[in-house]
Amino acid sequence: MNPTEPDTTALTDLVSRLDLASKVRLLTGATAFTLPPEPRIGLGELRLSDGPTGVRGLKFAGGRVVSLFPNATLLASAWDVDGAYEVGRLLAEEALVQQIHVVLGPTINLHRSLLGGRLFEAYSEDPLLTGHLAAAYVRGMQDAGVAACLKHLVANESETERNTVNSVVDEATLRELYLLPFEIAATDAHAWTMMAGYNDVNGVAATEQVHVNSGIVKGEWAWDGLLMSDWTATKTTAASANGGQDLVMPGPVGPWGDALVAAVQAGEVAETTVDDHVVRLLRLAGRVGALGDLREYPTDLPAPDSAVRRRQLRDLATAGMTVLTNEGVLPLAGSGGVAVIGRHAVETAGMGGGSAQVNAPYQVSVADGLTALLGDRVTVVDGVEVRTKAVAALPAMVTDPESGLPGVGFTLYDAAGTVLERRSSPTATTVVGFDDDFEGTVARIRLQARLTSDGPLDIGTIGVGDWRLRVDGRTSDWTLAVANPGPGAELLDPPSRATPVAVPAGTEVEAVLEVPALAPGSPALAGLIVRRSAREVDTVLAEAAAAAAAADVAVVVVGLTAEQETEAVDKSTLALPGRQDDLVRAVAAAAAKTVVVINAATPVLMPWLDEVDAVLVVGLPGQEAGHAVAAVLTGAAEPSGRLVTTWPVADGATPAWNVTPVDGAVVYDEGTFIGYRGHHAGRAPAPAFWFGHGLGYTSWDYSDVTAHGDPAVSTTVSVTVHNTGDRDGREVVQLYFAPADPAQPVRLVGWTPVTVAAGGSATVTVTGDPRMWRRWEGGPDGSWATLPSAGELLLARGLGDIRERITVG
Ligand code: BGC
Repeated sequence: MNPTEPDTTALTDLVSRLDLASKVRLLTGATAFTLPPEPRIGLGELRLSDGPTGVRGLKFAGGRVVSLFPNATLLASAWDVDGAYEVGRLLAEEALVQQIHVVLGPTINLHRSLLGGRLFEAYSEDPLLTGHLAAAYVRGMQDAGVAACLKHLVANESETERNTVNSVVDEATLRELYLLPFEIAATDAHAWTMMAGYNDVNGVAATEQVHVNSGIVKGEWAWDGLLMSDWTATKTTAASANGGQDLVMPGPVGPWGDALVAAVQAGEVAETTVDDHVVRLLRLAGRVGALGDLREYPTDLPAPDSAVRRRQLRDLATAGMTVLTNEGVLPLAGSGGVAVIGRHAVETAGMGGGSAQVNAPYQVSVADGLTALLGDRVTVVDGVEVRTKAVAALPAMVTDPESGLPGVGFTLYDAAGTVLERRSSPTATTVVGFDDDFEGTVARIRLQARLTSDGPLDIGTIGVGDWRLRVDGRTSDWTLAVANPGPGAELLDPPSRATPVAVPAGTEVEAVLEVPALAPGSPALAGLIVRRSAREVDTVLAEAAAAAAAADVAVVVVGLTAEQETEAVDKSTLALPGRQDDLVRAVAAAAAKTVVVINAATPVLMPWLDEVDAVLVVGLPGQEAGHAVAAVLTGAAEPSGRLVTTWPVADGATPAWNVTPVDGAVVYDEGTFIGYRGHHAGRAPAPAFWFGHGLGYTSWDYSDVTAHGDPAVSTTVSVTVHNTGDRDGREVVQLYFAPADPAQPVRLVGWTPVTVAAGGSATVTVTGDPRMWRRWEGGPDGSWATLPSAGELLLARGLGDIRERITVG
């Protein structure tokens, strides 16, 4: 259903029926993820939920069980606009069953520095690929009457000092690179909402950016959607209300409210400005069926663990998996033994951390996925530690002593010591205050659990406050505080502490947290850590090598965790955490054949690359992770992905690296030369693997290339591709333009995927997007010019494998 497009005159009329205070009330959230209704004008409650890898609902954690999708980089690696549309459509289904009107995605910031903690949520380093995939996702979602939200406007590429960082970006770079995905998704697909980031851009907060928000987005692009703030990002009243932002999130407390009413009365904000914000809000409500006759919601959509969802999510994941190298070992052949090794083999990372997390119905590990396909041919060996910080216990590690069910029992007390509530959840070992469901002001939380396995274990606590931990009669006290203060740090980067204990299964554990008064909605988290203590690394390596030597092929699964790929924190290195490099080397030295599976969304360093037979990148594959990886390893599905980020040879060997602000600023001084553009211009060493690289399971020849059209503004290239291998396969024909002017970087201008049977051929046309021939001249008041057409058109499988060159101009 696509509700009829609201009529602006009718919306203005509705606004005129409200007094100033009633209008302003609508412009701040009612809760963390809802907006206030206004029955007098037929406005229903609008409900927002995070994306982008699932629609987790109105709770930050522990909410409804929903489908966990493959992460954004993995989806993007399919280079498939139809697939992106399908993701939008499926997310809309997940939203509709929860009566959610707005999904807070896609994230379309670019992969500028590879240290950025949130790159896993964002599609790629390329603005065209990002923009076209985002536009398709938006269409898929909005065709079903659910609003998408482009985030985070703009120049929001790293997390360090994220609430204050000033991104310093020249105007041409801003427009040609960082604004381009927003422009494409706003003008081609009419995204109904956007989110202004936490950061400043050239000294002005994103939430107050008259130049970007009012001038470019609402002015030049004539965008008529709603611009909301990121959560707690708004720092001012008049400046943000006058700065093109329409809505403050979350609520009910915020910097607008009475202060905005007073600012209007003092003449600092025009009432017509408030009216425009409300018109946009009502337009959104009309579009999603929350104004006037409220929409009806389907109830018969596929459940997150239904067979149809499983298949959809598995297919989306396999399409983006990317073969970096393959010395004839993949897909796995024969009937011999397979040793599956690594912590990521047994605890496969299906998603990143932060607001993109969802409460998934299940997550299949690579070990379980391969065992399901290959049975007792598979030997599973756990690997080295991959985390430095303990995470909350798996519910299976503990039971609530009162109910006997998996998970922890929580008792919430007020300051007088009265029990407010006792709760227990079979899927959770944490309790989160931000979810707005404390039944009063909490001053103490008591966590009780009984261990289900014998030691040696690490037992501890997570969450800000004064803790007393009691295990088997012995007590320890400690105080935990956030390490990196910032919005939501208590939830996004909570402090934790654990201590080794050797106790038998059945031992009771009690942890008591004393906190300053926690009102409902407070960003607080309390959790219990119970995990098996780390084993000696030498023992782990020896076990892995022995299993590898005994098998026909070893599959080592390595990767990152939510310590690196998360919100609020950046990375400091691209090296694999822990002793995973040693694990790969130990396995490669012992095994007849070694396949490395990289379970990470973003590039990692591979010092052992020459010692292994194949490297497969599987991203963060969502709930179907292990089944998808197994399908690809065995050849049941082709890993037809192409990299969406250039993989460098070393830390710092990239065109843009630093993410630590200097005097509060991160300077984007590489201009438009990020990623492959900068490597190609010699501004960084040749990479290990180029953006666009990916081998698939077959081989390709290109012939009969012709270019049509006016190369000054656009171009169309035709080419015949021959599948020269013995498997059906999918090729992604990529077209780049390398301007003769060295001040202008090479850039992707178009691509077309094609599926061709073994031994067959197909003629493919790729049309360049005219926006890639634009150049911004001058500062903020400058204008667009057309690039001189002189240069080369390149047909390439990533710029490390250029198949055809056409000189133009
Ligand atoms: C994130 C947003 C997210 C919001 C709501 C913020 O911390 O930056 O991307 O949508 O929280 O959870």
